[in-house]
Amino acid sequence: MLTTRPRGTNDFLPGETEKWQYLEDLLRTVCREFGYREIRIPIFEHTELFQRGVGETTDIVSKEMYTFFDRSERSITLRPEGTASTARAYLEHKMYALPQPTKLFYMGPMFRYERPQAGRYRQFHQFGVEAFGSSEPAVDAEVIGLAMEIYRRLGLNGLEVHLNSVGCPNCRKKHREKLQEFLIKNLNEFCPDCRERFEKNPLRILDCKNAKCQELSQGAPTTLDCLCPECGEHFDKVKGYLDLAEIKYVIDERLVRGLDYYTKTAFEIIVKEIGAQSAICGGGRYDGLLESLGGEPTPGVGFALGMERIFPTLETQGINISIEKPLDVFVATLGDEADKVGFQILMKLRQEGVKSEKDFLGRSLKAQMKHAGRFNARITIIIGETELSRGVVVMRRMDTSEQIEVSLNDVVKVVKENLF
Ligand code: HAM
Repeated sequence: MLTTRPRGTNDFLPGETEKWQYLEDLLRTVCREFGYREIRIPIFEHTELFQRGVGETTDIVSKEMYTFFDRSERSITLRPEGTASTARAYLEHKMYALPQPTKLFYMGPMFRYERPQAGRYRQFHQFGVEAFGSSEPAVDAEVIGLAMEIYRRLGLNGLEVHLNSVGCPNCRKKHREKLQEFLIKNLNEFCPDCRERFEKNPLRILDCKNAKCQELSQGAPTTLDCLCPECGEHFDKVKGYLDLAEIKYVIDERLVRGLDYYTKTAFEIIVKEIGAQSAICGGGRYDGLLESLGGEPTPGVGFALGMERIFPTLETQGINISIEKPLDVFVATLGDEADKVGFQILMKLRQEGVKSEKDFLGRSLKAQMKHAGRFNARITIIIGETELSRGVVVMRRMDTSEQIEVSLNDVVKVVKENLF
């Protein structure tokens, strides 16, 4: 169908796009204050980047990627997330040679072939930050603090930071053994996907959406039970820094993120009110990712938040972020000559930064005045033939209905005086 968009995609129309612009401005402002600088990464990458970065056994890579061969038979994938690409760019552009940590942010569309529902789309938008080059727990707390600061400035309430540690590869090995020991008892009762995950990546079983699998995995050993002293200390320090920043959190031992690169800290920010898709933000530390992409061992930590999920949350909390500025001036004209002069005035007003409009449909003067009313213009300039022959126009302030005649040569100056 040529008049229907693909499932799971959205058109954002005027009225909504102003809200997106407001959000994007706010994100850029907070990043500037926190010292995160923008990176723009490609919409598509070599498929292998995500296979290696995000992990072959994850749902994202095994089921959800938009992958195709380009005309040179290279396997290409529309980015399902931004961390792998940002890490690739960090290595490719040798950003490790800069003073560390390198703190970056990005925003833009991501693509996952998921079952669309409210809050879950096939093309959605993420804002994300990634800090490379520091293994200090304070950076983990900084990125969580950055996310919470964004939500605070938007005026959102009732958010919960869910915090966990998934440990390092050593902790994971120990946890894997303990977990398999636990799961093997009822393995036949798990869904086919989970039975496959049992060998490949048993941690994923804890993340299965199937209710039966969730029930069966209740009481499974957690990663926190298996942390080595270093990972345990890191986790304690992250909690300590969050306390210092007065950021509340709940320990969520079942928090298993859907991507394989995480080490140590993993977190999500949850808002209950928006239904099933309650995770508005997710992130964590990924100290092994850059090495797995072929770089030197380099620590990293970051998060991404779903931009689409912010708007329904704002709405349920009664927060209006519409920032559309009303029209400053409407230029109404009568007759061909007046119309030309009106066009000239319109363009001059715009050069002066005045938000202005005129009629473009040849409406009658009465209809133009009605149209001006729809715009809620602060000032209307009326140019009629008799006024024009005297070198003047009528300027009407719409709030007081006060009307004065202004010389054609002064009109831009007088309008500005009345506006600002
Ligand atoms: P993620 O948890 O897959 O993590 O996605 C982060 C956020 O993106 C989610 O919490 C959700 O708000 C939003 N999101 C994900 N999928 C969809 C969808 N289909 N429709 C709408 N929103 C969605 C990552 O992507 C990691 N790269 C985050 C990260 C950055 N970790 C470290 N650095």
